[in-house]
Amino acid sequence: MSEEKVLIGVIGGSGLYHLDNLTFVKAVNPETPWGFPSTPITICALPSGKKVAFLARHGAGHTIHPSAVPARANIAALKSLGVRAILAFSAVGSLREEISPGSFALPNQIIDRTKGVRPASFFEGTSIVAHASFGDPFSNKFVKWLESRVRKALDDEGRGVKLFTDKCVICMEGPQFSTRAESLMYRQWGADLINMSVLPEAKLAREAELSYALVATATDYDAWRPDEASVTSAEVFKTLTQNADTSRHVAATILDEIHEVFAGNEVDMLEEVGRMKLSIMPR
Ligand code: ADE
Repeated sequence: MSEEKVLIGVIGGSGLYHLDNLTFVKAVNPETPWGFPSTPITICALPSGKKVAFLARHGAGHTIHPSAVPARANIAALKSLGVRAILAFSAVGSLREEISPGSFALPNQIIDRTKGVRPASFFEGTSIVAHASFGDPFSNKFVKWLESRVRKALDDEGRGVKLFTDKCVICMEGPQFSTRAESLMYRQWGADLINMSVLPEAKLAREAELSYALVATATDYDAWRPDEASVTSAEVFKTLTQNADTSRHVAATILDEIHEVFAGNEVDMLEEVGRMKLSIMPR
């Protein structure tokens, strides 16, 4: 009998290194043409028995810094398991007063401030010249579908965690945080959140024809507030554990329904979100 496919992948960011509120089934470590993923992938069972794949972006012990995450191997490894949709989590800085640390957001836009050091395409080094559409970097329908479900999960058990939507996340290179001037400039550019991890992950998910949504979890106010010290790792760590607990709750609450959708019941959503819209240049 062939192995059951795992349709949904969860990528955990800083602080989210496991989904131990789900049942551990096994660990797998697929080798891809781009090497091994950040860490072996955990296959977990939901209460319904359906399986999901969990991957810790920075490694299980947070040993991989953002610029060195093997994003191509991560996406290819999840795809090799049968994954169709990725729910990614990432700690972010907030560039807006109302998005206080501890808040969650489902961004719909990205500004790229990485410095070209991260391989960002599966076609690099090949003779295939391919251009994927990336105007809407997240899978819009998937993100919209998530809104009410994530909001409800964030309200469960009196949690009262705020959810923001239609936000723009800027992805910087790091590992140092931004200067105050940069942080202020990003606000002027219209960015609301900042992280070091959404790229090239989102680009590669698009090339791999996977639906991709980001749950951004705010840990700090970056460096733009005039009377406040700029962000430090210690400040980020303060909210990380609470945000990770909340993220695990969100995942456990909504993964069953996500699985149902991507198992093919709502084909309409899949069609919109799953297409790379890749054009390979004519020869
Ligand atoms: N991740 C969490 N907080 C951040 C910040 N202020 N800048 C970049 N990445 C972050």
